[in-house]
Amino acid sequence: MCGIFAYLGPRNDAGRVVIDGLKRLEYRGYDSWGIALQTGEDRLWLKKEVGKISAVENLELPNAQIAIGHSRWATHGGVTQKNAHPHLNEKGTLAVVHNGIIENFQELRKELKKKHKFRSETDSEIITHLLEDFLEAGKSLEEAARLASFRLQGRFAFVVISNSERKLVAARRGSPLIIGVGEGEYFLASDIPAFLPYTRHVNYLDDDQMVVISMDKLIPDALFLTLEDASPISKRSIEIDWDAKGAEKGDYPHFMLKEIMEQKETICRAANQDDALIHEVVDLIKKSKGTFLLGCGTAGKVALTGSYLFSRIAKEHINAVFGSEFPAQAHFINDKTLIIAISQSGETADTMEALELAQAKGAKIVSIVNVEGSSMDRMSDITINIKAGPEKAVASTKATTAQIAVLTLLAYAMVGRLNEAKQLLVDAASQITEMLNPRYDGYIETLAVKLKDFESMYVIGRGLNYPMALEAAIKLQEVSYIHAEGFAGGELKHGPIALITQGTPLIALVSKDESEPEILSNAIEVKARGGYVVGVSPENNDIFDYWIKVPDVGNAAPILSIIPIQILAYKLAVLRGNDPDMPRNLAKSVTVK
Ligand code: G6P
Repeated sequence: MCGIFAYLGPRNDAGRVVIDGLKRLEYRGYDSWGIALQTGEDRLWLKKEVGKISAVENLELPNAQIAIGHSRWATHGGVTQKNAHPHLNEKGTLAVVHNGIIENFQELRKELKKKHKFRSETDSEIITHLLEDFLEAGKSLEEAARLASFRLQGRFAFVVISNSERKLVAARRGSPLIIGVGEGEYFLASDIPAFLPYTRHVNYLDDDQMVVISMDKLIPDALFLTLEDASPISKRSIEIDWDAKGAEKGDYPHFMLKEIMEQKETICRAANQDDALIHEVVDLIKKSKGTFLLGCGTAGKVALTGSYLFSRIAKEHINAVFGSEFPAQAHFINDKTLIIAISQSGETADTMEALELAQAKGAKIVSIVNVEGSSMDRMSDITINIKAGPEKAVASTKATTAQIAVLTLLAYAMVGRLNEAKQLLVDAASQITEMLNPRYDGYIETLAVKLKDFESMYVIGRGLNYPMALEAAIKLQEVSYIHAEGFAGGELKHGPIALITQGTPLIALVSKDESEPEILSNAIEVKARGGYVVGVSPENNDIFDYWIKVPDVGNAAPILSIIPIQILAYKLAVLRGNDPDMPRNLAKSVTVK
């Protein structure tokens, strides 16, 4: 999704700082990019391109100490140079970058067209023209930004610079914007990894707030204000515990592989939660009259896994819903309801909207997130940090298993067995350490070579492995672009089996529990129709054409079942020439609905 990066400070190569920052945001997914620099000239310096930022290594940049940049994931208007941000006014004295969607853009565009010439098809260009009108009416840059924000409906984060004022002005409602506070310099970004090489001190802009970062004084400073009436807000920066190295690829060819390998440690870190915090959440679950687990994409599959874990371990009914579907179920939410949001980024728009809706009805909110200080963290009554460290590949891996680990802790803690859960997860992590070796990797690569030219494949699971069959299919779709679907084993005979022909690959996730005989029967039904059966299980079986061994780890099975599929998806992507870190059309942090 779109990324914003801006700089103000004593460095004279602000343009380079911003380009490097945009590169560190590349993982969010984008199709075009641009930067604007304040150079002391009448017109701001502008560069916009379609394609990848990495392709402009030798771009000559003029000296500047104030710069804004943007990587765009097209929503309104095609992928063109004109539609890329920043959007300048006709005189070239104002530049705006924007994330989010302005819902009343058609009406505003109609109004502004009477006076301004639009050069793009975007909703974002509206902000430039609104600002220009307020400036012409004698307002300051920050006042213009504040007044412009009143006209916008929907979610936004925007940053503006002008040719004349030594300032960065930014406003937020609904889309993330984080301020990195360096030594006498400031960074503004959509996500923390973008400025990690410079600082770990951050300030979060909340909804309906703005920041004015200016160089008027000897040392630049940041003034936080409410959008409503420009009253000052005092904010203390916090130090986050991510380091720049954690957000780099290191010796790995791709982030996805690095993050898959890190699961040996991340599962232990996720399991190492403060007991008091876990018990606090358990108390809320017990007191609530109805608990919902909520997430989107992979986090939605984790939510479903959670409902199976709670049923199996704690004998507790908990609903699992996708964020986007929650409004349709929100009719029975009240002040006794508990919502547990699951999100790597803590920013996903559909999940956020669901939480806002539930909170407005009085529900309590718990979030299980990976990003401290994210929007979900800040709006929640209680937050559990999964401590997976920055996850940069679009396809979630280590955050997924860390989220499942936290849900396992909660389910066991419901019945007074928290220590048992911690031990179970530590044991599972040590099994993963043994499993993730070059021989295992090579073995899955051999399977990937066999499967790489298939057009479709299917995954089945039962019980705890059913949500993982769905997640496995997502992983395969996301990075290999092979049509993949996941089913409950028992559902196969009600439709999908019609798709099985000679050689169709079917992956069966099999655990050593009561579902084992039945899932094996489902695999046999597929085999009888010519399917090529890949078994992911602790024990081999005659019906498997290919067997991927996973350790038997009891109720931690979902974690172990998904890891080989993550590796398989990664291998398929590489073999098919796809970029596993930045799959086509997808974005890491989906901040639009
Ligand atoms: C996108 C990502 C997925 C992720 C989903 C939810 O689709 O590509 O990997 O599962 O968003 O994101 P969240 O940050 O809320 O976990």
